[in-house]
Amino acid sequence: MRRPLVAGNWKMHGSRASVAALIEGLKGGMADVRGVDVAVCPPFVYLGQVAGLLQGTGIAWGAQNLCQVAGSGAYTGEISDAMLLDLGCRYVIVGHSERRNIYGEDDALVAEKCRVAVRAGLTPIVCVGELLEEREAGQTEAVVARQLDALLQDGEGVAALRQAVIAYEPVWAIGTGKTATPAQAEEVHAFIRSRIATHDKALAGEIRILYGGSVKPGNAAELFGMADIDGGLIGGASLHADDFLAICRAAMS
Ligand code: PGA
Repeated sequence: MRRPLVAGNWKMHGSRASVAALIEGLKGGMADVRGVDVAVCPPFVYLGQVAGLLQGTGIAWGAQNLCQVAGSGAYTGEISDAMLLDLGCRYVIVGHSERRNIYGEDDALVAEKCRVAVRAGLTPIVCVGELLEEREAGQTEAVVARQLDALLQDGEGVAALRQAVIAYEPVWAIGTGKTATPAQAEEVHAFIRSRIATHDKALAGEIRILYGGSVKPGNAAELFGMADIDGGLIGGASLHADDFLAICRAAMS
């Protein structure tokens, strides 16, 4: 059985005050969330604060990105794997569509970041997903296959995925209020699993594949009820403690 994971991607939102209030709210409601891994991914600058507040709770934390160069060095503006470990991060989101589409991260860079994260002992949450025009042109599977194949291109890549989580996030569903239907999402999740199976059957059965894109308390249970959906990567709704907790509860089987 794959243990569900619900991760909050706070994106570029928050202040020290709002972070404190949100964490307080989450801690207050976690007692009745069982059998689900829960994590939040705040902006880098709040990771230290979040680490202090979440220490010893059942909630893990992670970052939204990392540098493809490990350790330290002359990389202005970048944050490394070692720094994330130093702050107690367990997870790091890699290849979010906003990184791919706004900051030009390509498949090869995303694969490199995934490996760097795994080498450091972090769990990368690697995002894949198609643009609206790609879906409309019938290219969803081709796009997702290309993104996955970059991760799976050699033995190290396949081994790295054993420590990773995949998030399927159709770009047209992110922050738009337009969720993929459970059937639409499941179709792609099953495809992702079958694609991974062509490289490693056991890995395909074990890897967690999250759905992301306008997950809300009202649609989470139906999405998480699908055979190949193992939880969610939650944007907007993760900024409200009650909504995020309701989504975590929806992942309890
Ligand atoms: P959303 O974002 O839940 O606000 O659609 C999801 C994501 O981008 O990870």
